[in-house]
Amino acid sequence: MKEVAKYLIKVDAEFKDGQIVPEIPFEEVMRLVNEPNIVIIKTGIPEETLRSVISATRAWADKTPAAEGPDTFDNNQHKQRLHIAKIQQAPQLFHDHTFDAILDLEEPTKQTLMKVFTPLRQFWNNLTGNNEEYGIRKDGPFFHPQVTHYPLGGSFFGRHWHPLNPQKVGTILALNQYGKDYNSGGTGYVINDHIVETEGYQDMGDIILFRYDLPHWVSPSSFADRFSWEDPAGRWVAILPFYDPWAKPADKDEPQGWKAQIQTAKNAPTEAVV
Ligand SMILES: [Fe+2]
Repeated sequence: MKEVAKYLIKVDAEFKDGQIVPEIPFEEVMRLVNEPNIVIIKTGIPEETLRSVISATRAWADKTPAAEGPDTFDNNQHKQRLHIAKIQQAPQLFHDHTFDAILDLEEPTKQTLMKVFTPLRQFWNNLTGNNEEYGIRKDGPFFHPQVTHYPLGGSFFGRHWHPLNPQKVGTILALNQYGKDYNSGGTGYVINDHIVETEGYQDMGDIILFRYDLPHWVSPSSFADRFSWEDPAGRWVAILPFYDPWAKPADKDEPQGWKAQIQTAKNAPTEAVV
């Protein structure tokens, strides 16, 4: 375990029998997340497994027409998003592939995606003390496994946040490599008025963990490149949101309640001011 920047902690892990096993107990990881810090878990998931998720997702999207209407939360769909969120006013430009019905995918797509989404699900269960399975529910929260592509040339996701519960901890798994597959863009956070940019700190196979009510964003891919929805180049991540799509959405005011839970003011007074 190592603090690589203010509020940014790297934790080693082993990928053993398809499970992500961190070098410190899950409770300790969650203590760091809740302090709050951004925690990067070096999962050790093999490169081949990660890259196969990108290629399987692309092959699936090629034969599946992009969704256009409002999200229905009862299927597998992909959508090219260029939009400003209604309540939080967060602008966004990216291509998401959301597998609410992941159990209904055809083989071999399902098996390929599960090589990453089963360890992610178990890891989140271990962190939060849950024992949740995949599958759509009409009466409560369920998983919305997603593979997100941030194309070159200006894709991004503006500052936004989520209710803390039931997710508690957000998970972002890098499916490809910064500095090789893409050269700009990464997730940013604000903690105690200090900006934490993870761009360049997250390698392929690393999972970023963050307290779900922290304001966060995705910094843009470089405008020096030409934008194209068709070009698969750019940053690819796998995320695992867990929420009830019919519950009340997050408020338009940013949550500040977590500030009261910070036990110690870590390090010196904050430098950057939002
Ligand atoms: Fe988010």
